[in-house]
Amino acid sequence: MKKIILTGDRPTGNLHLGHYVGSLKNRVKLQEEGNYDEMYVFIADTQALTDNFNNPKKVRDSVLEVVLDYLSVGLNPDKVTIFIQSLIPALPELTMYYMNLVTLARLERNPTVKGEIKQKEFGSSIPVGFLNYPISQTADITAFDATIVPVGEDQLPMLEQAREIVRSFNNIYGSTLVEPKALIPDNESCRRLPGTDGKAKMSKSLGNCIYLKDDSETVKKKVMSMYTDPNHLRVEDPGNTKDNPVFIYLEALSTEEHFKKYLSEYNNLDELKAHYEKGGLGDVKVKKFLYDVIEDILTPIREKRKYYEENIDLVYDILKEGSEKANRKANSTLKRVKKAMLIDYFD
Ligand code: TRP
Repeated sequence: MKKIILTGDRPTGNLHLGHYVGSLKNRVKLQEEGNYDEMYVFIADTQALTDNFNNPKKVRDSVLEVVLDYLSVGLNPDKVTIFIQSLIPALPELTMYYMNLVTLARLERNPTVKGEIKQKEFGSSIPVGFLNYPISQTADITAFDATIVPVGEDQLPMLEQAREIVRSFNNIYGSTLVEPKALIPDNESCRRLPGTDGKAKMSKSLGNCIYLKDDSETVKKKVMSMYTDPNHLRVEDPGNTKDNPVFIYLEALSTEEHFKKYLSEYNNLDELKAHYEKGGLGDVKVKKFLYDVIEDILTPIREKRKYYEENIDLVYDILKEGSEKANRKANSTLKRVKKAMLIDYFD
């Protein structure tokens, strides 16, 4: 079986460090390893509209921002097909057919959807399009015969639902669709990077994100005012590294190289942690190191972004070509699906 990697993001704002460690970094690594037959990364604008239908400008503007984020972290259009979801008409068509295979109760049980309904305060006025998005996401995945879907932990229920739909389809109409598998980062700190305020997740609405396009000054301000261990009042106090976002970020981002480069009195994070836990290590010093680490990562990303911002026509060409290629693939899957469903009238 072919190895086909696919993943996407909703364009609702710029991508941040949480996206970087939770998914983007992994994608670039997969791309560089080259151990796949096809790889797709796409901008899920149709899905973004399911809960931002009244804010089309935000979605439209974010499409370009997210593509710039993709290109600046190193996704390479020669190796990865980058496309826009709404330019692939086979996706809503597949969604329509899959809708027959899912009950309302099953959709309402999806824990990620459930959480979002609460968070968005839909109450009992849940838009059909929103509730339906796990089905539409199944279309995204199956249209490309994706076998591997690198995502954040919060997307596991979507993949579960996609697999159910695939099994159900294949059962009824004969073996047609490919069952996908989720791929989540193995580093626990990468799976759920907290906000700079210590809240569970980086989220635009909470204003606790460090964005990939933030400049050095902004990053410095954000890092130096990060939440740490509230009981670590004096330098000599023993500190807690466990639920301390500064250490969680270091866990997710720092390497031994970074220690060599910026904080050579310690060989690695374990040593730094041990010192902090014992007492005698101040927050400012740790934060300065974290700032250096983040800058080390963001500097080349900013440079690439600048290049693409200055060559924006190139970005549009990448999207246009990627979407054409993606269309050919999705259309061929749609053909297979319609044949299996006996609605291939004049073929
Ligand atoms: N739901 C994903 C998110 O919120 C975006 C997405 C849409 C996606 N379709 C997908 C991810 C298909 C992986 C595969 O970020």
